[in-house]
Amino acid sequence: MEIEGKVALVTGGARRLGRSIALALAERGAELVIHYRDSEREAQEVLALLKKAGGKPVAVQGDVSSAADVDRIVETAMRAFGRIEILVNNAAVFYRTPFEQLTEGDWDRFLDVNLKGPFLLCRQVGMIMLRQGQGKILNLADIAGLKGWAEYIPYAVSKAGLLALTRGLAKALAPAIQVNAIAPGAVLLPPGTSPEEEARAIRRIPLERLGSPEDVARAAVYLVENDFITGEVLRVDGGQHLN
Ligand SMILES: NC(=O)c1ccc[n+]([C@@H]2O[C@H](COP(=O)([O-])OP(=O)(O)OC[C@H]3O[C@@H](n4cnc5c(N)ncnc54)[C@H](OP(=O)(O)O)[C@@H]3O)[C@@H](O)[C@H]2O)c1
Repeated sequence: MEIEGKVALVTGGARRLGRSIALALAERGAELVIHYRDSEREAQEVLALLKKAGGKPVAVQGDVSSAADVDRIVETAMRAFGRIEILVNNAAVFYRTPFEQLTEGDWDRFLDVNLKGPFLLCRQVGMIMLRQGQGKILNLADIAGLKGWAEYIPYAVSKAGLLALTRGLAKALAPAIQVNAIAPGAVLLPPGTSPEEEARAIRRIPLERLGSPEDVARAAVYLVENDFITGEVLRVDGGQHLN
């Protein structure tokens, strides 16, 4: 798909990886709907950048785990542009949940935000894309969804579920819509990560560095532009999955 002139909705697009993906799509001529939950100031900063570059971006707040909020997010995008060709499900929660301390609340939070959220968005936007006769959906998963991570079980389960959602939707929405996942490895570590933890993360990566947000954004652009890839999981992890 030619990105120029298409409308892209990026969840969690105000900061970190979502911001980089949104800016990369905008650089190739997409109009952006930047979704955020708490990061209003950062969302406004992204909007200012996009406007300066000549776009007419829109920002919209909401909790992706709420069906009512997802309806409102999608309505806002449709009111502004009348179409959505690219959906990037990027918003997520991530924190450590050692087995002995894992609560039902943690379990529900990971599954609600990281799996139900993308499902709700895919359902709403997928119907719009079917009517349009075209669309690209990208789900930000994680190599955690392909491996066993003892201290991040509900997070990893949410991402494994997201991969299953990606594959199922790739068939359900074919041939008009392509649905793919990106599985990053260690890119931006959580705030507060110690230098020792960072060094430990890098030791697990054959390419001996963390990824950059641009590494992930370039993979996103590739998957949007290519029309013969669907149901795929593209690992962007410097080879970490090999270990
Ligand atoms: N960073 C990495 O190295 C890495 C590695 C592997 C996979 N990934 C995946 O790549 C994606 C982006 O990573 P990231 O580190 O940039 O993400 P992040 O900073 O952990 O979170 C992205 C955004 O998700 C939004 N969010 C959280 N809960 C939400 C909710 N209930 N409703 C709506 N939005 C919510 C937040 O928006 P607000 O700030 O506006 O509240 C947040 O800025 C995620 O799906 C992540 O799991 C990242």
